[in-house]
Amino acid sequence: MEFVFKIITALVLLLANCTSGIDIDINDEDSICNAAMKVQNGTWNYYEGTKYGGTVGMFASPNYWWNAGEAFGGLLDYYIFCDPENEQLESRIFDGMYHQAGENYNYIPSNQSMTEGNDDQGVWGMAIMEAVERNFTNPDLHSWLEMVQAIFNTMNARWDTAHCNGGLRWQIFTWNSGYNYKNSISNGCLFHLAARLARYTGNGTVYVDVAEKVWQWMDDVGFLTEEDNGDFRVYDGAEVDDNCTAVTKLRWSYTYGVFMAGCAYLYNFTGDEVWKTRTEEIVDASLSYFFTSDKIMQETTCQPHNLCNNDQRSFRSLFSRCLGLTKLIIPEFKEKIEPYLEASAQAAAQSCSGGTDGMTCGEDWSTSGWDGVYGLPEQISALEVIMSLVVKEPLTVATGGSNRSDFSAGTDSQDSVNKNEITVTGKDKAGAGVLTAIVLAILLGGSIWMIF
Ligand SMILES: *[C@@H]1O[C@H](CO)[C@@H](O)[C@H](O)[C@H]1NC(C)=O
Ligand SMILES: *[C@@H]1O[C@H](CO)[C@@H](O)[C@H](O)[C@H]1NC(C)=O
Ligand SMILES: *[C@@H]1O[C@H](CO)[C@@H](O)[C@H](O)[C@H]1NC(C)=O
Ligand SMILES: *[C@@H]1O[C@H](CO)[C@@H](O)[C@H](O)[C@H]1NC(C)=O
Ligand SMILES: *[C@@H]1O[C@H](CO)[C@@H](O)[C@H](O)[C@H]1NC(C)=O
Ligand SMILES: *[C@@H]1O[C@H](CO)[C@@H](O)[C@H](O)[C@H]1NC(C)=O
Ligand SMILES: *[C@@H]1O[C@H](CO)[C@@H](O)[C@H](O)[C@H]1NC(C)=O
Repeated sequence: MEFVFKIITALVLLLANCTSGIDIDINDEDSICNAAMKVQNGTWNYYEGTKYGGTVGMFASPNYWWNAGEAFGGLLDYYIFCDPENEQLESRIFDGMYHQAGENYNYIPSNQSMTEGNDDQGVWGMAIMEAVERNFTNPDLHSWLEMVQAIFNTMNARWDTAHCNGGLRWQIFTWNSGYNYKNSISNGCLFHLAARLARYTGNGTVYVDVAEKVWQWMDDVGFLTEEDNGDFRVYDGAEVDDNCTAVTKLRWSYTYGVFMAGCAYLYNFTGDEVWKTRTEEIVDASLSYFFTSDKIMQETTCQPHNLCNNDQRSFRSLFSRCLGLTKLIIPEFKEKIEPYLEASAQAAAQSCSGGTDGMTCGEDWSTSGWDGVYGLPEQISALEVIMSLVVKEPLTVATGGSNRSDFSAGTDSQDSVNKNEITVTGKDKAGAGVLTAIVLAILLGGSIWMIF
């Protein structure tokens, strides 16, 4: 049976490879947008919000809440850069993003308290910041800017000096595993949002200080290092139990991306050369670690061994978005970065030749065809690397962006507190208890069954 299955799989792959992927003429914006249109179309196959009984703003399992935040940032870019007349697309994106804002409009919806960490809130923050900088239609009650400010303030209030001399923990809620871990992506999101808010509002008072605080701490604790050969590294994180001394030395593309683009925004806003130097160090390290010798982007820590999980398979989407923003904001780096994005976008589009629609994207872009891996992560990674070729100047208040701003948004909400017992209602906690009970019951039930 398994043998037959293998043969069928091989045939399907063979057929898929015969049908050609999407071609891109990198010098023609219409060609780029046409490729992007096909890829973004595929992302909606995983969307729950238009299905009967589905939740607006959510994508199908195994995609988590944070993957939706990732996806909407890319879909919004696609709408703005390629398809601004498409009103149906606009309202779908608007509804999805606004629906998940949560009771306090800070992207901590109480029913995500079983999964949401600082990095998840931060990635949603990046999508909402995209809406700010692209002048996306504002909701009536709170502007996108006010909501990013609320995200920033609630994250920053969780800064925890009790362990490791500072830093954000990975998780917001004490009951989630990973609460005792401090990681680079959570801190990177805070850094990144601070940098973009400073540049957008033109008010660096708090934002630049926070960005400097995060960078300094990341450096002190050894999450940012420079190897003897000059190679700059951003490591994954460390446990608080031993004061962050045992650093997990894994490298992920999106972590490099959020720090890289954050540095670029800070350079643009402050004009301080130190941020330009830091941007360049991360750009160089990224181009050497996250690309093949043919300049094709890959998630190097897991992909060559086929070990990437659903989350990791999506990291290149944010990485691509950040590379695109960086080359735009510091034009001197354009020449260096662009060949990598061009080669990767073409290769990614070639991988989009699988599935029943014949244009489902794959994970390994260096195989010149579909590799049989598919899902929301593959669609959004391909989408964003293609979009990075047509990225447009992010607005600021000074260049015509909306000034509906609230620097203290979110500060009156309990959602900032680390040990978040107060705002979480009895119902949610009861829910967590029931879930634990069910898991236990299954485990115990299973072992009892085995005894008999
Ligand atoms: C995707 O493409 C199909 C076929 O062209 C079209 O019918 C459908 O409306 C598109 N869906 C979206 C969400 O763009
Ligand atoms: C969770 O909360 C949001 C509002 O914050 C709500 O719209 C949604 O239906 C709820 N349920 C799920 C499964 O997300
Ligand atoms: C914990 O680590 C921080 C940062 O590396 C350091 O400044 C601090 O002295 C350490 N504290 C203890 C108790 O070891
Ligand atoms: C910041 O960006 C703007 C527009 O993107 C550009 O005009 C300006 O020269 C940049 N500033 C610096 C210091 O690079
Ligand atoms: C934006 O609003 C702030 C206060 O709300 C004001 O001080 C600032 O001048 C405004 N900026 C612009 C460009 O309108
Ligand atoms: C932003 O959107 C508003 C409202 O839709 C519009 O009036 C304004 O001209 C736009 N600004 C820019 C710079 O596009
Ligand atoms: C600048 O930001 C600070 C702190 O976030 C705030 O208190 C102040 O009102 C802001 N200034 C303006 C002109 O908006």
